[in-house]
Amino acid sequence: MKAEILKKLRSENGYVSGEELSRHLGVSRTAVWKNIKALRQEGYVIDSVTNKGYRLIESPDRLDPRIISSGLNTSNVGKRIVTMDKVDSTNDEVKRRAAQGEESGLIIAAENQTGGKGRFGRTWSSPEGGIYFTILLRPDLPPNAIPSVTLAAGYGVCLAVREYTGLDARIKWPNDIVIGRRKLCGILTEMAAQSDMLDYVAIGIGINVNHTGFPEEIRNKATSLYIETGKKTDRNDFFKCVIKNLDNTISSFLVGFSSEDMENFKRLCVTIGRQVTVHRPDGNILGTAYDITPTGELLIRTEEDSELTVNSGEVTVQGIY
Ligand code: BTN
Repeated sequence: MKAEILKKLRSENGYVSGEELSRHLGVSRTAVWKNIKALRQEGYVIDSVTNKGYRLIESPDRLDPRIISSGLNTSNVGKRIVTMDKVDSTNDEVKRRAAQGEESGLIIAAENQTGGKGRFGRTWSSPEGGIYFTILLRPDLPPNAIPSVTLAAGYGVCLAVREYTGLDARIKWPNDIVIGRRKLCGILTEMAAQSDMLDYVAIGIGINVNHTGFPEEIRNKATSLYIETGKKTDRNDFFKCVIKNLDNTISSFLVGFSSEDMENFKRLCVTIGRQVTVHRPDGNILGTAYDITPTGELLIRTEEDSELTVNSGEVTVQGIY
């Protein structure tokens, strides 16, 4: 019932009377009052004025699955949303739950991660104010299709940031989201498969949202929505937008990206047309990225004028962190 009350208070600009709430929810006014009290204890600031009713003044800055999933009607991503105060890593939590048979579509999000993981064995610093989450999917795909699912996820986050903030967010192939020269979001995908049968994929996404600054060592490489827009973002609202876009791009990918999606992805990809370095164990290769294949590999023309197809590994782009 608390979710219903919040929904109603959010949808009204002014006060909503206790009578209207009790009629709308089909419960007694005492039940309304008890739930308002419980919401206040959760940190919601709700004004109440005699003869006028209740008005929502401020919501706590906490991810709340009731708000995030309200009105969210997705096909694949976020069928069930669980938020946690603290966890080692949302990827690890999803992997544990997947091993116990959890269904496709789950999202685990956390306010803090004590062991946030990045790509290439790096750590992902996860202070409060970010959105750290992992999506569990069980798509009917071979394991070698997983890098492309990750591309679809990066594309979804990029579209959400553009839609919600109007910022010129771009994709740094394969799936970092950048604003200008700095990184806003990283994605770490892990999977479990038996021979060529995929069991599940865990797509872990970290977005810097209300971070007001970063430690010295990453200050020049990282950015946040707060730094870019100068104002705090309502994380629940933004997260809903992110999930909606992820569901669109991942669902499109699962039935096969349209040529329009592919062209749009390339248009948003900062890597294309830039000088890049491919870091390989046997040495670096320099070249210019010029296209992305329908299966998501990066095409590079090397300095020696040969063509290189890159499907994983680290590619650095000149001018971007
Ligand atoms: C990278 O750019 O190196 C990938 C970073 C991925 C971070 C996210 S935060 C949520 C999820 N849980 C983790 O431990 N990692 C991913």
